[in-house]
Amino acid sequence: MAHYSLVGRNYAEDIIAFLNSKPKESRYEVIEIGCGLGDIIRHLDYQKKIGYDSEDNVLRAASFLSRISRQKNIIYKSFEFPILLNEMVNTIILVNWIHHIEPDVLKMKMEDYFENHLLPGGEIIIDTVQDKAYRINHQVSFIVQNLNCTLIKIGDYLNEREVFAIRKKK
Ligand SMILES: C[S@@+](CC[C@H](N)C(=O)[O-])C[C@H]1O[C@@H](n2cnc3c(N)ncnc32)[C@H](O)[C@@H]1O
Repeated sequence: MAHYSLVGRNYAEDIIAFLNSKPKESRYEVIEIGCGLGDIIRHLDYQKKIGYDSEDNVLRAASFLSRISRQKNIIYKSFEFPILLNEMVNTIILVNWIHHIEPDVLKMKMEDYFENHLLPGGEIIIDTVQDKAYRINHQVSFIVQNLNCTLIKIGDYLNEREVFAIRKKK
């Protein structure tokens, strides 16, 4: 059944279904950078969840939504990409905002997250959009060029949005 807050946003539902179908031992800790109101992370079945966003008022609203849905295992923190991460996790999500990050900066941080903050078998989830109305149209082949990964397409959406899981080989 569709989550009410996700109606019309199939990419989010597909990410949730893709990640929640992973074995339980691969779903210990997830980070979402640019989590917004937490509509993705709130629906993920992980033991530990961290939602980062650069907007404090958005984080306050996300915390409120998590409280009323009785989610106790989500921590929301202020974070302006591309500052450093500290954690080592199973999954890192960056979707529906990276079209305003320069390709070289995004690629460099993806390499850092992949090598230093992602457990083997884990994934970074990103989206690319091919639409002139967006400031930057990323090419996934450029982002993953130096990564020892398996690239999995989760789906295709409006505005030629594609969502990918960049899986770290075990
Ligand atoms: C359109 S919302 C998407 C939320 C969520 N990822 C989703 O797909 O449902 C984009 C969010 O990314 C955040 N954001 C944009 N640039 C960011 C940056 N450089 N660092 C951290 N968060 C950022 C915005 O504040 C906003 O809450």
